[in-house]
Amino acid sequence: MKILVTGGAGYIGSHTVVELQNKGYDVIIADDLSNSHYSVIDNIEKITGKRPEFEQIDLKFSKETKDLFKKYPDIAAVIHFAASKSVGESVKVPLKYYRNNINSLVNVLDSMDLTKCFGIVFSSSCTVYGQPDHLPITESYPMQKAWSPYGHTKQICEEIIENEVKASKINGILLRYFNPIGAHESSLIGELPLGIPDNLVPYITQTAIGKREILRVFGNDYNTPDGTPIRDYIHVVDLAKAHVCAVERLIQNQMKKRVEIFNLGTGKGYSVLEAIHAFEKVSGKKLNYKIVERREGDIEKIWADASFANQELGWKAEKTLDEMMDSAWKWEQHLIQQ
Ligand code: NAD
Ligand code: WQD
Repeated sequence: MKILVTGGAGYIGSHTVVELQNKGYDVIIADDLSNSHYSVIDNIEKITGKRPEFEQIDLKFSKETKDLFKKYPDIAAVIHFAASKSVGESVKVPLKYYRNNINSLVNVLDSMDLTKCFGIVFSSSCTVYGQPDHLPITESYPMQKAWSPYGHTKQICEEIIENEVKASKINGILLRYFNPIGAHESSLIGELPLGIPDNLVPYITQTAIGKREILRVFGNDYNTPDGTPIRDYIHVVDLAKAHVCAVERLIQNQMKKRVEIFNLGTGKGYSVLEAIHAFEKVSGKKLNYKIVERREGDIEKIWADASFANQELGWKAEKTLDEMMDSAWKWEQHLIQQ
């Protein structure tokens, strides 16, 4: 069966393509390479022994998106990763985020009736929850006003899918990722942050390798055991595997509702200092860091109740924080050799 993976050259998309191909699916990647490199396609082939089809296309454009779907009328499902993803940038250039994230989704949905597609798996985020007042958080927790334009696009996109499902034959699975980190065990694919990373783990590995001088820990006066914020970090390979389960649920018509929402996390939260110490343990390196002021817009703590995904998708995150850090560190060391 053919699966269209938009944004498949990106961080989570490339790991998902590997897992899909390992399970025997044929994959078409549609990506404009705005935040990724063509070499990722070569590396997917090196890992799986199979080259995915690749279409360089900007899904913001309606005609190009329609042409893509006309070219592949036998697509069985779409996994839609393509989006702009930097929270900080979205505050500075909100229209870029509304234009890209919303138009791309609308164009994909609008083109799906050109195929015999069973439905769409959509990349959402725990950012739709804001700061919950009780934890762990389940999928039924009501959304709050979004904390950033990026988060707002994820809320809007979820609603667009819900409304389109009511009006069409399309089914939708919305996956709310917590904090994906780590890289493939081959170190051939991983996260490629452009410029200075916003996210904790690329910042840790870049500091350890000497690309950055010091990691700033944003605040240690939160209401958590060590004062630093808590997140539910999940290995990107575990996350990728959940997408295969979701696609199979769509294709095999196992859905209990026409739109289903799943939290994808480990269910366990770690503080920033715990993440740093896990990194230091697996790398054997002492990290240069200092505590600074809180970062504006950061929430204090969040971790998932992932039991719905465990039950319904038959999926469970398996990799430990140490394994996540170990793979992230190997990936950083591999990058420096490029
Ligand atoms: P990424 O930037 O590595 O991958 C996104 C890919 O989409 C890139 O290859 C980019 O070139 C492509 N793309 C962007 N706009 C496009 C367009 N208009 N047309 C075609 N291709 C386009 O990001 P990622 O970390 O792999 O994230 C994938 C998805 O998961 C995104 O939707 C993101 O919002 C969501 N998500 C990510 C995280 C995270 O922490 N990484 C957390 C929650 C949700
Ligand atoms: C984690 C913790 C920081 C960098 C973001 C998005 C979210 C989702 C995942 C897409 C926080 C601290 C970080 C640094 C630090 N993405 N930190 N020094 O903010 O939980 O989530 O990525 O959907 O929407 O908001 O992830 O990795 O940026 O931060 O102390 O240099 O690390 O304060 O507590 P975050 P993060």
